[in-house]
Amino acid sequence: MDHFHYRNRILHCEDVPIRQLADLYGTPLFVYSKATLLHHLGQIQKAFAAVEPLICYSIKTNGNLHICRLLGEAGSGFDVTSGGELYRALNAGGSGDKIVFAGVGKTDAEIRYALANDVFLFNVESEAELHNLAEVARSAGKIAGVALRVNPDLPPKTHIKTDTSVKGVKFGLDIDTVLDVARGFVGNPHVRILGLHMHLGSPILSTRPYQEGMAKGLMLIERLRQQEHPISVWNMGGGFGIHYRKQEALPAQAFAEVIVPAVQKAKCRLVLEPGRFIAGNAGILVSRVLFTKESGGKHFLIQDAAMNDLIRPTLYDSFHRIWPVEPREGLPAPPDDYEADIPNTIQQDVVGPVCESGDFLAKDRRLPMLKRGDVLAIFSAGAYGMAMSSNYNSRPRAAEVLVDGARHRLIRRRETYEDLIRPELEV
Ligand code: LLP
Repeated sequence: MDHFHYRNRILHCEDVPIRQLADLYGTPLFVYSKATLLHHLGQIQKAFAAVEPLICYSIKTNGNLHICRLLGEAGSGFDVTSGGELYRALNAGGSGDKIVFAGVGKTDAEIRYALANDVFLFNVESEAELHNLAEVARSAGKIAGVALRVNPDLPPKTHIKTDTSVKGVKFGLDIDTVLDVARGFVGNPHVRILGLHMHLGSPILSTRPYQEGMAKGLMLIERLRQQEHPISVWNMGGGFGIHYRKQEALPAQAFAEVIVPAVQKAKCRLVLEPGRFIAGNAGILVSRVLFTKESGGKHFLIQDAAMNDLIRPTLYDSFHRIWPVEPREGLPAPPDDYEADIPNTIQQDVVGPVCESGDFLAKDRRLPMLKRGDVLAIFSAGAYGMAMSSNYNSRPRAAEVLVDGARHRLIRRRETYEDLIRPELEV
């Protein structure tokens, strides 16, 4: 469920026509729906209510301060993966006791920063990291709370670049050796192993990996407790999928049905780190057509958003629905199935202005004939869109707008040319 709807053939975000936002703020533009963000957070809160989870929004998904603040005020904590993300979380009003800190390569400076802000748990991914964390905590006069991140070694479940729980990826402690590592830290005065952490991969469209992960987790928790580690937290990470092509995502309730009983059995506090599920369908990227051209037997739709704005198609061959915000008569608005043979459309490559053949938002996509100035919506762009954007080709980053009912406001201004060179001048 989201709040991007065609009304009388005009795409709206909540009660605001997208065309109006494109005219006012320019393109490329990210537009987010407040109601959708809160709806998705609410769905998780409701589905998992029986175990009163700590939900830590995964800030890497979309770290805009205004979005983080909104989610924080609605009860969310934060999952951070760098000092910069911790800085964002704190600036958005987050407090350490609702922040978990992940990542395979935390620096001493980042650890000190996190300790100074009393983060709830460090998700630790290697034995070397545990030793280092203990040393930094000792010198800071603190005790670090730890969840051991385990790689449960499950079958492939999503794109190879975002699958984090198969053998051979850099993430987590090896499930075969994690207990040996943990044994060495029983009674350590500087790190206290309080939890188990898993993040299976992203996006996941089935409950099965969670089922398999939970079974392995239950066993591990029992063994860790036998070693006298006071395990009281079980963090199952993020990974819940969203709608990219159609309505393919599972409701939060489906994941809860698998996760809640296991957590109750383990008598643990549940932590979740959802990112995409909250932000993904709550944002679109809006662009404007520049030119069309025929070349090599292909039809190219050249518009002003590029791989620097949304790199997912280039990086993962990801599918994002694309449709004009004001489709002409005779066209569905929008089609039920973007991969079907839609009448009055032709196959087109949707490309941007960046100097790479890999700069595309869609390939061989059925779209109507469009003309210069037409405005497009690239859907499901709220997660890992702006967050992974760059200044490649010295393109200023897009603006971001948050819609709330009939109101809208800029939550990140468009970058300027001056922004592009400022750090090089301030030397
Ligand atoms: N927790 C940890 C430890 C993670 O590494 C991630 C995502 C999450 C939580 C949030 O996962 P989510 O709920 O959003 O699925 N750039 C890729 C996705 C990379 C995911 C990285 N880790 C994409 O655009 O698909």
